[in-house]
Amino acid sequence: MENELKALMDKALKEINNCQTSSDIEAVRIRLLGKKGELTASLRSMKDLPEDQRPLFGKHVNEVRDALTQAIDKKAGELNRIEKERRLKAEAVDITMPGKKQMIGGLHPLTRIYYELRDIFVSMGFSVMDGPEIEYDKYSFEMLNIPKEHPARDMQDTFYITEDIVLRPHTSPVQIRTMLSQKPPIRMICPGRVYRSDDVDATHSPVFNQVEGLVVGHGITLANLKWTLDAVMKEFYGENTKTKFRPGHFPFTEPSAEVDATCAKCHGKGCGVCKGTGMIEVLGCGMVHPNVLLNCGIDPDEYTGFAFGMGLDRLATIKYGITDIRLLFENDIRFLSQFK
Ligand code: DAH
Repeated sequence: MENELKALMDKALKEINNCQTSSDIEAVRIRLLGKKGELTASLRSMKDLPEDQRPLFGKHVNEVRDALTQAIDKKAGELNRIEKERRLKAEAVDITMPGKKQMIGGLHPLTRIYYELRDIFVSMGFSVMDGPEIEYDKYSFEMLNIPKEHPARDMQDTFYITEDIVLRPHTSPVQIRTMLSQKPPIRMICPGRVYRSDDVDATHSPVFNQVEGLVVGHGITLANLKWTLDAVMKEFYGENTKTKFRPGHFPFTEPSAEVDATCAKCHGKGCGVCKGTGMIEVLGCGMVHPNVLLNCGIDPDEYTGFAFGMGLDRLATIKYGITDIRLLFENDIRFLSQFK
């Protein structure tokens, strides 16, 4: 029995020594020292010995177990250390390596233009209102003093969804919604996408973007309208920008005007963009028609107002000298990356 114990110990020490990984050594630990291990089996076989030899044998078994435990712990410690070093080496980061370049996008030119305009209006005390792109005919036309037989209602111009519902052809219905839900004083802009049944070419698109605005209050006059829009254009296109108000016609304003601003490309000298005139049309505007105020429950004897509307795409093409509006919608990265 003692010899067997000795043989077991020699064999075990060899096995321990041969272990290459921490899982090897844990397997050896279980095989030798576990409940069903070889050493436990030796301890159990003690009952076959004469009683007087048992204490000494038991002592030896315990010594062997202590020695093996120590040897296993030592080996396990070594292997763990080696494995940890290997892992750290494998996971090491070379901080001298060049980093990966992050691609950072830019704002779309239309978004930029809108943010610039919005900031100008907000700094003048305007708030920003939103409305649906699928809109009632009533808000898009009727309440804006555009009766049923008006040419702007032509099926050629407007996308009808049903008799009463259209894809809004301008953002003016947001003015109506605002006047229906708020009492004067009102000072708001309404930006958004609008739809008209136009064929696509260099200057037309069935979907484009507008920013309209509305001011309603006591004693609002044409002078307020002129000053406000002139100030906005100077802020937007540069302080040397001049504006010219020409008589115009819109059913929802009376009087109405169209506004030209100094051509941003040639600064008034005359070029291809402004067809040699030095000025370029930028917006439509006017004093809110009394019928429109009445339609929204606002007394035109007490309140007056002005309104204006501009095409964002047009402002962008003028500001950046873009000759084809389609570039704004095609999202060609080579085009867009110029605006970063
Ligand atoms: N709704 C007009 C359009 O789509 C633009 C416009 C002109 C809006 C004059 C206005 C305005 O509020 O007063 O062409």
